[in-house]
Parts: sequence; structure tokens; C-alpha cells
Amino acid sequence: MNVRDAVPKDIPAILAIYNRSIRETTASWTNREESLDDRLTWFEGRKKNGLPVLVAENDKCEILGFASFGPFRPREGYRFTAEHTVYVDPKAQRQGVAFSLLSRLVEIAGAQGLHLLLGVIDGENAASIALHEKLGFEVTGHLPQAGTKFGRWLDLVLMTRVLNAGMPAPEK
Ligand SMILES: CC(C)(COP(=O)(O)OP(=O)(O)OC[C@H]1O[C@@H](n2cnc3c(N)ncnc32)[C@H](O)[C@@H]1OP(=O)(O)O)[C@@H](O)C(=O)NCCC(=O)NCCS
Repeated sequence: MNVRDAVPKDIPAILAIYNRSIRETTASWTNREESLDDRLTWFEGRKKNGLPVLVAENDKCEILGFASFGPFRPREGYRFTAEHTVYVDPKAQRQGVAFSLLSRLVEIAGAQGLHLLLGVIDGENAASIALHEKLGFEVTGHLPQAGTKFGRWLDLVLMTRVLNAGMPAPEK
């Protein structure tokens, strides 16, 4: 498996993985599937802002999953925090794909001088919580019944990992 920067021709595969997860899981609290244009706009926005979009591919160049991070909240005081996301094709799950993608994202975030990486996770998503624990993230927030999908209330779990530990806060 190879992890590399995504390019525009990867967007249909990224879209298919994402939309399937919208239909079948509570990973993303929406029922609205995206169009190709939506995903291309997202991708171009990330690239324009120097933010990573990674894909993992197998030796047949099939896309197995993707990961990215972007700003957590817009005010400038949050500029050292990023929220990340990772999705893996069900066919390729439990083979270390998400671990490889997120490990690389953590390296990139550290190299970009970020101070906190944040995963915002459905409390029922035991796979994602275990994945993040394996990568050194800790549960630092739990919001009971913060959302709903598929006819039930869902808890939100926040998992964080400090990067560049000991980095001084900027003057402003
Ligand atoms: C969560 C998800 C990204 C994990 O991807 P993956 O490639 O299967 O994960 P990996 O194979 O890299 O697993 C790494 C570790 O995560 C944990 N893990 C992954 N899947 C798990 C599962 N189904 N149950 C329990 N632990 C799991 C394990 O600790 C695993 O290490 P191990 O295999 O050595 O035990 C994947 O299930 C997925 O795409 N789900 C739908 C979308 C989603 O939930 N995204 C996360 C949004 S926050």
C-alpha cells in the first residue's frame, strides 16, 4: 500500500467512499450525499490553503481510503488546531490503511507547526476510537446526545493529540 497526495483524478474514488459511508454509517451526521463538484470544490479549497489530502492505494492503483485535515474553527486563536478526517473503503478495512494515512497526517501537521490535532467522532464508532487510541490520541471531550441520525441520538467524542509539545504560545 502506498500513501500519497491526492490528485484531481482521485476525486471520484474519494467521493464513492465518502458517499457510501454517508448512506451506511453514522461517521458523518448527514444524509446528504455529495456531488462530484462538491468534492472537487472541497479538494481545491484544501490545496489552495496548503492543507493535505492524502490517499492510500494498492498495487493496482485502486484507492483504498483518504484522509485530510482543515481548520477547526475560523477565529485566529484556533489557527494551531486542525480537525482531521479519515475514510477507508469497507473492502480494505482492518488492513492498516487508516493507521498509515493518519500516521502521515500527524507527521505533516507537526511539520506545518500545528499544536493540536482533533478527531470529532461518533461515540458509537468503536473502530475510529480504537484507531485514534492506537495513534496516541486521548478522549478529551464527550458530548452526550449531540446529534442524530438513523432515528437515534448520538454522542460526540472529541479525541486530541498535542503536537510539538512544549511549543511556546505566540505573543498574539
Ligand atoms: C474507522 C476506520 C477509518 C478504520 O479504518 P481501517 O483502515 O479499517 O483501520 P486500521 O486497519 O488502520 O486499524 C488500525 C487500528 O484501529 C482499530 N480498529 C480499526 N477497525 C476496528 C474495528 N472494526 N473494531 C475495533 N478496532 C478497530 C484497531 O486498533 C486497529 O489496529 P489492529 O488492527 O492492529 O487491531 C474505518 O472503519 C472507516 O472508514 N469507517 C467509516 C468512516 C469512519 O468512521 N471514519 C472515521 C470518522 S472519525
